[in-house]
Amino acid sequence: MHENKYSEQRRDFLKKAGFLIGAGASVSALSSLIVGCKDETILTPLPKPGAKYIVDLSKYSALAAEGGIATVSASQSDDTTKVLTFIVRRFADNKFIVVQSACSHQSDRELNPVADADGNTHCPRHAAVFSLNLDTPGAVVDGKGVTSAPLKSYVYTFIAPNTLEIKP
Ligand code: FES
Repeated sequence: MHENKYSEQRRDFLKKAGFLIGAGASVSALSSLIVGCKDETILTPLPKPGAKYIVDLSKYSALAAEGGIATVSASQSDDTTKVLTFIVRRFADNKFIVVQSACSHQSDRELNPVADADGNTHCPRHAAVFSLNLDTPGAVVDGKGVTSAPLKSYVYTFIAPNTLEIKP
């Protein structure tokens, strides 16, 4: 199983590297590809330790109602040019879940902000299933043999009426 996984990753890598080299990509673009091939999730840019990330919920109509889900952009509170993305789902009584938007298997694959009837999202690349439920945010429901790593779940503060403050 590991051999298959790594063979597939190697194939993906060589395909992307070939494309980038053919397109005259810079060394930094190629090195970011190498980082992206690791199994662990790497948020780019990395969250600044101690920083807060602010989401204006009024920009996301999907998050106006209970059960809504969206991929949101959150600006670093002391430098709004620094932006991270998260998947947010809203529940009753202004409760939310906030999880990483990148798959825990390969961080260059963004997950879709969509939940099935059980409240789970399915990765479009290798079909791993992650919980978007209030009691198990980001948990692996079915890793499809490629991942056992949950999505990182973040602490947040809701500031009425429309602000989420996320603390990575
Ligand atoms: S990238 Fe492989 S399961 Fe998401």
